[in-house]
Amino acid sequence: MSDFDKRESSAKRRARLKTALEAAFPDAEDAEAGALQFVRAPGRVNLIGDHTDYNDGFVLPAAIDLDIWIAVRRRRDGLVRLASLQAEGSPGSFWADEVAPPDSSLPAPDRSWVDYVAGVAWSLREAGLPIHGFDGIVDSSIPPGAGLASSAALELASALALLGPAHVDEPAARLAALAQRAEREYVGVNCGIMDQFAVAAGRAGQAIMLDCRSLESHHVPIPAGVRVVVCDTRSPRELRSSAYNERRAECGKAVALLAEQEPSVSSLREVDADMLRRYRHVLPETVARRAEHVVTENDRVVAAVEALAAGDLEQLGKLFAASHESLRSSYEVSCDALDEMVAVASAVPGVVAARMTGAGFGGCTVNLVGEEAVGDLARAVTEEYPRRTGLSPRVYSVAVSDGAGNV
Ligand code: GLA
Repeated sequence: MSDFDKRESSAKRRARLKTALEAAFPDAEDAEAGALQFVRAPGRVNLIGDHTDYNDGFVLPAAIDLDIWIAVRRRRDGLVRLASLQAEGSPGSFWADEVAPPDSSLPAPDRSWVDYVAGVAWSLREAGLPIHGFDGIVDSSIPPGAGLASSAALELASALALLGPAHVDEPAARLAALAQRAEREYVGVNCGIMDQFAVAAGRAGQAIMLDCRSLESHHVPIPAGVRVVVCDTRSPRELRSSAYNERRAECGKAVALLAEQEPSVSSLREVDADMLRRYRHVLPETVARRAEHVVTENDRVVAAVEALAAGDLEQLGKLFAASHESLRSSYEVSCDALDEMVAVASAVPGVVAARMTGAGFGGCTVNLVGEEAVGDLARAVTEEYPRRTGLSPRVYSVAVSDGAGNV
């Protein structure tokens, strides 16, 4: 399927969600007077810089117009009642001011989507922010489990719903950090900051260059005439969370061993190619390759920002290709489906740059494509990729969009 697809208009979606809210929660006697509120948080795609965020490095994500909306009817009594329009989300509820602290005995995969909302309530309260209860209908156009940050989008949308109008006083970076805390400490997924930051701080037409050490960021325009196309491999992602934690541990090992040589090293961010060459012999071979990916990927992010500013599409193509190759052979988080998807896309004239994006082991590729070639890419992927893999892809021509906010 390809989806250049008309997204539903805001007015239609608003009306659809209002009807769903009234049907799911007809008893409105605890509702506060006043209109419904609609909040939205986007998914994200990472242009370049993967597995660098938890190494204090650079990333270049962009918020996209696949997103999560919540229709919110505030309640007086502090109860949060939630229903989802997606089949995988059964309804749930909790008291906003009585969320129990995280239960580390519950493994992350056993968590329900409502726990992500409860986790955000816990994290906001821990930070001393005032939250309130609401009846909410959640509606997502982000394909779940495809690596487009649907969890981070749910977290940020929940934060806005829980805070109500007070959220406008909170800087995006703070909300992102609080959402990340919820995911790490409450849900139990050891993620970096990239997803939540991109979802919170996105801006239409611009990617975000984020320094994950200082959390300083600036926006980088996508060149005119270039479209961002996301191709979902639809391949199973079984290994993802165990491999993710394993890679984090390997990076930690690299830091520990390098710090014995150079005490100033506290993350791979402090390591450059020269230092790595000098001390490579103290690192086990696998650990050395992991570190090499991170060190070179940071350089590629910086170079990509320069190439975007200069409109140097050829250079972007080279950087994306080098990133994919490094993630495949040094970091070992690609898979056949991702490699085939990149190969199919790269052969299409007008495709400027193609690589896997996000954590890997399935999920999506990100492509920068000349406007005129988007249809050709969709056709090539829809015809050629299933022949090579037996899988049915999805192609999304996305608009780079604003971060989380009211709609
Ligand atoms: C996942 C994590 C991010 C980041 C990417 C890999 O999306 O949530 O924090 O580590 O993987 O770049």
